[in-house]
Parts: sequence; structure tokens; C-alpha cells
Amino acid sequence: MPCTIIVGGFFGDEGKGKIVAHIAHQDHPTIISRGGVGPNAGHTVLVGEKEYGVRMVPSGFVYEKADLCIGPGVLVDPRVFLREVDQVGASGRIYIDGRCGVIEEEHITRDQESEHLAKKIGSTGSGCGPANADRVLRLSRQAKELPELAPYIVDVAEKVNIAIKNGENVILEGTQGFGISLYFGTYPYVTSKDTSASQIAADCGVGPTQIDDVIVVFKAFPTRVGEGPFSTEMTLDKSHEMGIVEYGTVTHRERRIGNWDGQMARYSAMINGCTQVAITGIDRVDPACSGATRYDQLTETAKVFIRQVEEDVGCPVTIISTGPELSQIIDLRKRK
Ligand code: IMP
Ligand code: MG
Repeated sequence: MPCTIIVGGFFGDEGKGKIVAHIAHQDHPTIISRGGVGPNAGHTVLVGEKEYGVRMVPSGFVYEKADLCIGPGVLVDPRVFLREVDQVGASGRIYIDGRCGVIEEEHITRDQESEHLAKKIGSTGSGCGPANADRVLRLSRQAKELPELAPYIVDVAEKVNIAIKNGENVILEGTQGFGISLYFGTYPYVTSKDTSASQIAADCGVGPTQIDDVIVVFKAFPTRVGEGPFSTEMTLDKSHEMGIVEYGTVTHRERRIGNWDGQMARYSAMINGCTQVAITGIDRVDPACSGATRYDQLTETAKVFIRQVEEDVGCPVTIISTGPELSQIIDLRKRK
């Protein structure tokens, strides 16, 4: 499929990073382009023993043959970007659209010192809210104005569209999750932009007619960081009892854990225009499935859960993650 969007179906941190990395290794995209808000997102990718947490570099960086892009809709923090490019060795194949909004130190201060954002909403403190506000007010600088970013600047939208036109595989990588969309989420406990598939396409400058597949990633046990409603949330005591403890990649705050939410999953899939579902954390539904790479290795408990997901969402589950490592995955997509 030439152009695939991968987005989070719940409140973020569904394991999109790993799904993007897996699909990239399978489908050999020439471009992996990141949409979404900005460095408030943290993608964790575990390759062998090594764990990477990226906030600006697309999480598909682990697939070394693709060019990595950051679409014009995304906010760029030049300090975070340059540090990560260096850390993961992406120089020479990573590009930023010149029109990206820039996060200044002052945006970060405003975010962290705002009673409303930092305390009430529980923002990540990465400056995204204030930077998007300034962008809407047309006060922000753009990436093309910063000399230190000059080596990376291209027209990402054009680059991506040319690749699609040439029939190359392209992945558009979403960040955040549906439940914290500014439009569709639990307002005001949301991030500073829409996070649905249409927004990710728009962030990269790709029109709706160019999209072939939308893979929505759901976590078997959804999580949420920051404040706001979470209808299937369980107590921390209960999640600890189940052995589920998670911390945010950006803020290191402990994540709130919930049970599967079929109603939210269905609504999220509808707005995202879901064509396929990826489900992560199946090893938490039944630890006996940990590390499985074939469907027939799954237990009946896990299969019952997957059938329930398909019924709730109304789309086929085609990718099943069975553990944190990249190779711990079952891929049921039709082979080309
Ligand atoms: P902000 O995007 O930093 O303004 O934070 C607003 C809300 O969105 C807070 O509840 C954050 O915890 C949440 N949030 C923002 N980005 C992410 C993400 O990538 N994963 C999970 N939660 C996020
Ligand atoms: Mg994350």
C-alpha cells in the first residue's frame, strides 16, 4: 500500500513507535513522515537490548533505508531535534519542512509556569500549547528562519507527494492519541491540536484521496497521562496487582491504566477512518502469549479478546504485538 497512516486510538502511548518500526521493516517505505503536535510526544522503540525514546525524530528511524521527515504542521524544538538527530545518527536522511512552527525557550517556560496548562490540564511542559497559540496568532518563527536548521530544510509536503505519485511506500506517523484530540477528545483535557488521521495527513501536506490505509493502534489496557476523564480507569492498586506499571517517555509521570474500552475504540475508529487495527499488549491479556510470532501460538483467552476487539471496532485486527521487543509481533496483513 503506497500511503499508510498510523495513529493512536486511545490516549496516546499505544505503542505506535513499535508498530511503525515493524511495518517499515516489512514494507520498505522510502519515506516515514511524522505528523502530530510536536515534542510533547515520546515514542519508545526497543531494538534488542537498546531502548530509544524519541520526541522529534520519527520513530521509524530504526528502519535505516527510509528518509525521515517532519511535516509542516508539526512544531519543532530545535534543541530537542538536534540532540536526537545526533543520538540516533539520523543526519543525512532527516528533513524538516521550512514551515514548521518553532518552539522557543519562552514557550516552555510559559507552559511549565501556567497554572492552567501545567496543573489543571497536566501538560507535558514541552511548550507545545503556547507555541501553537503563537502560531495561530501568527507570531511564531518558522523552521526556515533558524540557521542551525538550514541543513535539514526541504518542502516535506512536496517530497512526500512525489514519492506517493511514484508508487513508493510512504508511512505517515501519528503522535498522541485520539482521546486527547483538541476537537474529538475530552476537552479541555486535551492537547493543542487534533490528533486524528485526517490531521496527520494534513500535517504532512497529503490530501485525503492519497491515503490507502489507516492503521489505528489500540492498547489492550489503555493508559492516560495527565488529567482528564478516563471511563474505564482502574485503581493504581489494581493495575500494580496485575503487574502493569508504566511511566511517560517525556515526563516520567506514572501512567493511569484502564480496561479495554470498546465504545471509545469504535468511535475512535470511525473518526480515524480505520481500515485495520493493530493491538498492543496482548501479553497482558494473557502472559502465556508473551513473545508469540504466530496467531496459532495465541491462547484461547487472547483469541477471544481479539475477536471482541474486531466486533467492537468493526475492522480486522491485522497486527498483534506480544511484547516490547520489535520481533515480538504477529502480522496478519495480506502478503503482497
Ligand atoms: P500538552 O500536549 O503538553 O499540552 O499536554 C496536554 C495533555 O496531553 C496532557 O494530559 C498530556 O499528558 C497529554 N499528552 C500530550 N502528548 C502526549 C503523548 O504523546 N502521549 C500521551 N499523552 C500526551
Ligand atoms: Mg508516547
